[in-house]
Amino acid sequence: MALVELTRPREDVALLTVNRPDKLNALNTPLLGEFADHLVTVEDDPGVRTVIITGAGDKAFVAGADIGEYAEGDSQAFTAFQLRGRAFNDRLERFPKATIAAVNGFALGGGFEIALCCDIIVATPSARFGLPEGLLGLSPGGGGSQRLLRAAGPFVAADVLLSARRLSGERAHALGLVADVVEPEQLLNSALEKAGYIARVAPLAAREMKRLLREGADAALPTALSLEQEVLFRLYSTADAGEGIRAFLAKRPATFEGR
Ligand code: COA
Repeated sequence: MALVELTRPREDVALLTVNRPDKLNALNTPLLGEFADHLVTVEDDPGVRTVIITGAGDKAFVAGADIGEYAEGDSQAFTAFQLRGRAFNDRLERFPKATIAAVNGFALGGGFEIALCCDIIVATPSARFGLPEGLLGLSPGGGGSQRLLRAAGPFVAADVLLSARRLSGERAHALGLVADVVEPEQLLNSALEKAGYIARVAPLAAREMKRLLREGADAALPTALSLEQEVLFRLYSTADAGEGIRAFLAKRPATFEGR
């Protein structure tokens, strides 16, 4: 049985479902391998505009790294797993298409880290976001501390890390981490609806704006502002920008070709 299922609920969407519900979708080495392979498949498919990531079952998105694997391995295996996880998260963050985390329960440790690498998070009220590694005598290793710090600020990050606090879907929404909170039966529809809006935006514009947000966040403001204009000037000369502007003036929907 696949540890991560790839399905296509709609032409423009790839749905990746982490599928170890009996272990609350905890991440292990083979699972990360399948996950990474699916990203390659989806990246190469021009029809896919958005990747939605969710967890199988009704309890968890992903309850973190497989703690059993930590107990079995030595420090070499532990290091290899952490490096693999970090590479996966970096890749997810830089993925050229839009990514949505649909969080349906526990998003702890590596699960929260994956959500933090997505562009948009939608969640149920019962979602629980946390970085509880301190309770194991450890600390995050897949970017959680640093991405949460940047996404929610030092006080929220300290509260989550030092008190191992779990943020509910509503709380994460109030903090600006979660775009929408919806009931479990509506979660996938909500993500699909968002993906539908994304599909209306020109593909090159979406890809460049995503990169702009990621790179701009790490840059000094003058550098980031220059980056913004570089992106705009490049997009202005694309065929899709010509089409988008003509379509607006002709009061018809634009047909973008990604060039
Ligand atoms: N790694 C390995 N197994 C995990 C896991 C993890 N991160 N999280 C949950 N599981 C397993 C449990 O061991 C249990 O397996 P079992 O039925 O074979 O005993 C199963 O998933 C169900 O979990 P359980 O703890 O019984 O559910 P719960 O509702 O009582 O508690 C959590 C849910 C998420 C609060 C609890 O499982 C937990 O704290 N998990 C670890 C979270 C964590 O520390 N993540 C960061 C890891 S670095």
